[in-house]
Amino acid sequence: MFNQVYDWMDERLQLKATVRNILEHPVPDHVNFLHCFGGITFTLIVVQALTGMFLALYYVPAPEQAFASVEYISREVAFGKAIRGMHRVGASLAVIMVVVHMVRVYFTGAYKKPREMNWLIGVTLLFVLLGFGFTGYLLPWDQKAYWATAVGTNMAGSVPVIGDFLLKVLRGGTELGSLTLTRFYAVHIWFLPAGLTGLLALHFYMVRKQGIAGPL
Ligand code: HEM
Repeated sequence: MFNQVYDWMDERLQLKATVRNILEHPVPDHVNFLHCFGGITFTLIVVQALTGMFLALYYVPAPEQAFASVEYISREVAFGKAIRGMHRVGASLAVIMVVVHMVRVYFTGAYKKPREMNWLIGVTLLFVLLGFGFTGYLLPWDQKAYWATAVGTNMAGSVPVIGDFLLKVLRGGTELGSLTLTRFYAVHIWFLPAGLTGLLALHFYMVRKQGIAGPL
């Protein structure tokens, strides 16, 4: 049955050649467990996307309801506590794994010519991941979240020349309030995922095009 469906689709889309090309791509001999960390980071990102989609079913990005909605997820929603826990722990693990991945790339010299551009795409990916952490931290709208964001946005505000502008863009005004929460939420679920998807596509395209860097 599966084979028939596969053949039917292959006749129309020439899937088999593409799938074979992806799955049968030879892995160089020197590749070992140190090369797993990029893939582990990617797996964690997929888990973050899935758990985030479920959290978004109940979360309300408004100051009066945000904290209550998060409590509701943890206390009432079936598997809510587990999903929220996975999303919180996964966020930290993804940052840890991406740093380990970066350290591997650095110490094996895999950033050198011709992979400098992929290193730069990687640095942007790192900032995007940190952006997820910064915007996500505010969403529960509890005291810790509120004051962490107050400090974080004040730091942006102390940047010379453009500080005032940055602070207003981040907060949606001079005060930290409902506009800050909706904008952090929009950035967390739309802007950053869009950027991440594009950058990852480029990152993986370049890994495939250039191949994994050779042995030391
Ligand atoms: C969202 C975060 C990231 C994901 C999911 C990711 C994923 C991957 C994967 C799956 C590979 C293939 C080989 C491997 O895993 O080692 C790779 C290679 C590479 N990554 Fe990343 N990466 C990320 C962030 C970064 C960062 C932060 C840097 C550096 C600043 C970076 C630089 C590179 C380079 C230069 C390669 C080519 C390495 C080689 O040819 O051996 N990546 N990445």
